[in-house]
Amino acid sequence: MTEISIAAPARAEDAAFVAEVTDLVNTVYADGEKGIWVPGTARTDRDDLASVIRAGELAVAQREGQVLGAVRVRRLPSGEGEFGMLAAHPAHRGIGLGRDLVAFAEGWARDQGVSTMQLEVLFPNEWEHPTKVFLRDWYIRSGYQVVRKGDFSADYPALVPYLATACDYLIFNKTL
Ligand SMILES: CC(C)(COP(=O)(O)OP(=O)(O)OC[C@H]1O[C@@H](n2cnc3c(N)ncnc32)[C@H](O)[C@@H]1OP(=O)(O)O)[C@@H](O)C(=O)NCCC(=O)NCCS
Repeated sequence: MTEISIAAPARAEDAAFVAEVTDLVNTVYADGEKGIWVPGTARTDRDDLASVIRAGELAVAQREGQVLGAVRVRRLPSGEGEFGMLAAHPAHRGIGLGRDLVAFAEGWARDQGVSTMQLEVLFPNEWEHPTKVFLRDWYIRSGYQVVRKGDFSADYPALVPYLATACDYLIFNKTL
């Protein structure tokens, strides 16, 4: 049985766990965001992931000790809940893991007294990325609405040198 829970902050000191989740996220994003980043650009690294765990912001889906998926949850300074870094293990797709991770994130936000959930999806400006099109359609089916288009270069200037193609991002909200 797969269980989803917030990783205990102490697990930030568990090097094997941090490496397992970092590798999963980077493997999943290397494929899911293919063509968007300069080859070799990683979604995260062990230090970054350890900080997320230490902050109590990482939810993991585990079965028999193996990490099958992850999502970052947090409360934004503006008050909304936000999830990101959503990843399901490639060998365990299409069985509801992603849906369960999103439901967990939404439940976590509700427990924090948050009434709006937010997420961001990166989109190439000049071509349709199949994963991003799937995500947009899935989030809309799941009750999210596009509330704003963000200017990626203006909002994330430090990441611009790693982009392989010009991108903007869409901000989605859902009332919980
Ligand atoms: C997005 C992701 C987490 C979904 O994980 P998953 O466990 O395979 O998804 P689920 O099995 O929960 O299915 C999610 C939806 O996709 C649909 N779906 C799943 N597999 C599908 C397939 N092969 N073809 C068409 N639709 C499919 C499901 O029907 C479901 O839709 P519904 O909720 O309306 O019924 C996974 O594809 C992933 O890790 N992608 C790469 C990383 C990424 O892009 N993250 C998000 C960044 S914002």
